[in-house]
Amino acid sequence: MATETQADNARRERQPNPGSAAPILLSLLLVILVAATVFIFAARLYPAPPPITSDGVQVDRQFDLTLYVTGVVFVLAQLGLAYAVFRFRDRGQTARFTHGSVKLETLWIFLTLVLFVGLGILGGQAWSAARLTPAPSGSLQIEVTENQFVFNFRYPGPDGKFGRLDPNLVSAPTGNPLGLDLNDPDSKDDIVVPSLTVPVNRPIELLLRSQDVVHNFFVRELRLQQDAVPGMVIPLHFTATRAGRYEIVCTQLCGLGHYRMRSFLNVVSASDYQNFLRAQAPAR
Ligand code: CUA
Repeated sequence: MATETQADNARRERQPNPGSAAPILLSLLLVILVAATVFIFAARLYPAPPPITSDGVQVDRQFDLTLYVTGVVFVLAQLGLAYAVFRFRDRGQTARFTHGSVKLETLWIFLTLVLFVGLGILGGQAWSAARLTPAPSGSLQIEVTENQFVFNFRYPGPDGKFGRLDPNLVSAPTGNPLGLDLNDPDSKDDIVVPSLTVPVNRPIELLLRSQDVVHNFFVRELRLQQDAVPGMVIPLHFTATRAGRYEIVCTQLCGLGHYRMRSFLNVVSASDYQNFLRAQAPAR
């Protein structure tokens, strides 16, 4: 029996074997997928709106760099895979076994490490510019309070001081969504509005708060996306260099009304900003 099986195997190996079409189709599919992916990115089918801060420009530059580097690695790796699937497909030949090359593998791992750690460190700078560095002196402080499913923005008013907040006084129906304690003199001139208006070319420091669950503050044109977490005040700063009206959205799935949780950022001239403050000044 044993000798018969060996003879069968030997006969089968000598026969020409065209192999199945599956590996050829698979390598072809890989090439098509790579081409389609490269096209989607190269043609910029889904362009982001232009950034309106210098930090935003830096974020875009970092994003492009990471995309190009990882893009080249992606294309080479997938084409290499397609080549290997095609070249070494089963055509009845005897399989060869290799132990690999320690030298080559060490080189791969080292290069990958340098590449990803390097990009991570570079990207960290773009990311931390708005968060971990203190806001420039003379920044305008505005408090952002999020709850299901609205944004409220508070300006300290002419005295430059935010008044005391008392959670027991929170009552949106009576026009006090933040629980402003009007017995505190600092509260008298505080302005609370549902959309954010800031002067152009002026450093702004936002203080992010949440009254219930985790929300988010995201403006595409600022290239800023930051969670608002209950119990925390999270600072975030930017200087918008182009006037306009930009959408603010919450990007954390915060409940059934999440889809409609949005507001607007109005970047206006210095004089329009003064007009805004005058118009909103509370008559208390
Ligand atoms: Cu708040 Cu989604």
